[in-house]
Amino acid sequence: MKVLVVGGGGREHALVWKIRQSPLVDEVYCAPGNAGIASEAHCLPIPANDVEALLAFAQREGIDLTVVGPEEPLVRGLADRFEEEGLAVFGVSAGAARLEGSKAFAKELMRRYGIPTAEFEVFSDPEEAKAYLRKRGAPAVVKADGLAAGKGVFPCRTLDEALEAVDRIMVERAFGEAGQKVVIEEFLEGEEASFLAITDGEAVVPFPSSQDHKAVFDGDTGPNTGGMGAYSPAPVVTHELHDQVMERIMIPTVRAMAREGTPYRGILYAGLMIRGQEAKVLEFNVRFGDPEAQPLVVRLRSDLVPLLEAARAGTLKEAHVEWDSDAAVCVVMASQGYPGPYQKGVPIEGLEEAQRMENVVVFHAGTAVQGGRIVTAGGRVLGVTAKGRGIGEAVERVYKAVGKIRWDGVHYRRDIGKKALDRLGGWSG
Ligand code: AMP
Ligand code: GLY
Repeated sequence: MKVLVVGGGGREHALVWKIRQSPLVDEVYCAPGNAGIASEAHCLPIPANDVEALLAFAQREGIDLTVVGPEEPLVRGLADRFEEEGLAVFGVSAGAARLEGSKAFAKELMRRYGIPTAEFEVFSDPEEAKAYLRKRGAPAVVKADGLAAGKGVFPCRTLDEALEAVDRIMVERAFGEAGQKVVIEEFLEGEEASFLAITDGEAVVPFPSSQDHKAVFDGDTGPNTGGMGAYSPAPVVTHELHDQVMERIMIPTVRAMAREGTPYRGILYAGLMIRGQEAKVLEFNVRFGDPEAQPLVVRLRSDLVPLLEAARAGTLKEAHVEWDSDAAVCVVMASQGYPGPYQKGVPIEGLEEAQRMENVVVFHAGTAVQGGRIVTAGGRVLGVTAKGRGIGEAVERVYKAVGKIRWDGVHYRRDIGKKALDRLGGWSG
């Protein structure tokens, strides 16, 4: 069969890498892909959001399955359009994608169905939002309702910061239409974890736990990014917590979406805040996490393609899923300046040497080929991923691989996995 992967980041490289290993698959295409993906799939110069161009390509090429990486094409109705035209697609409908596309929708759904999340109010008038903030005081988290590429969330320790956040979102419209409404919510303390599951709308099959590292610098300092590294499993998600999250969050959310008339078929990703033995939802995403997909995919032993097909076809209950007991860690190597403005086109050295290491995969995120060399082409450039018998071994291996790769201005966190090792009593870095 022919598979098309939509997107061009580290997550999509991980998906392409795994899909290509499937004996069911003859050809893999990726739109737009990147320099790393180009060595494993046919890359097409079609942007991930250009639904009509992707559809035309899939029809012309006879694509048997399209797998969507990022949220935006889903929110724009890619899955609906493909299905209308009789093409098989893995990814949620636009109606279901509101769970990520509108934070107000997600919060109100959670309130209606008793799914644990921070207390909140929604406002479409900035003056009302500010009056509420003055009454309730700080700390508070102010969030743009719509998609803002991960930048629309302002955790505020003081009232002034919170009032400013409302202005940035609603008055200055820093995120455009996404700022028509704001969600103001309770500031939760605790440790974050990512919980992903695949669902056909009925069966909900959990993936192993994982943890992202959102802040740009070590010790969770500095501004938030798309994610500077991830590992799996995450020991903060104990067996009890895992069951609790399935029973109180994942299954009820899938049931709720069906009740609302927007059945949920795809990946459901809950960003959790964990305190003690209790988990609350910070946000939902309607796709694989990036970089969480990288460690998860390298831990998946069984074939990904039949799993995606089963979720699409409504036969997930019978699907076979097998995970490696090894741990996996992904360290994101980023461009100088990221998450702010950064330079592109800087040559990368040492890729081959890192790639040759056993139990290491170098996923490309923002790379391109220029004059026959691989150069930086994005903020997050590489997601170096390694497996090990435990998190400790995986961490050691991944940093050995990272140490072989260089370019001018490269930066990365040196403490990916530390929270897990602290919990297990083994951080030596
Ligand atoms: P979101 O996109 O809603 O997950 O928010 C991005 C990041 O902001 C999260 O990963 C958290 O680090 C932080 N955050 C979001 N909501 C809250 C909250 N209610 N309390 C504390 N931190 C939050
Ligand atoms: N790693 C965070 C995200 O994918 O949204």
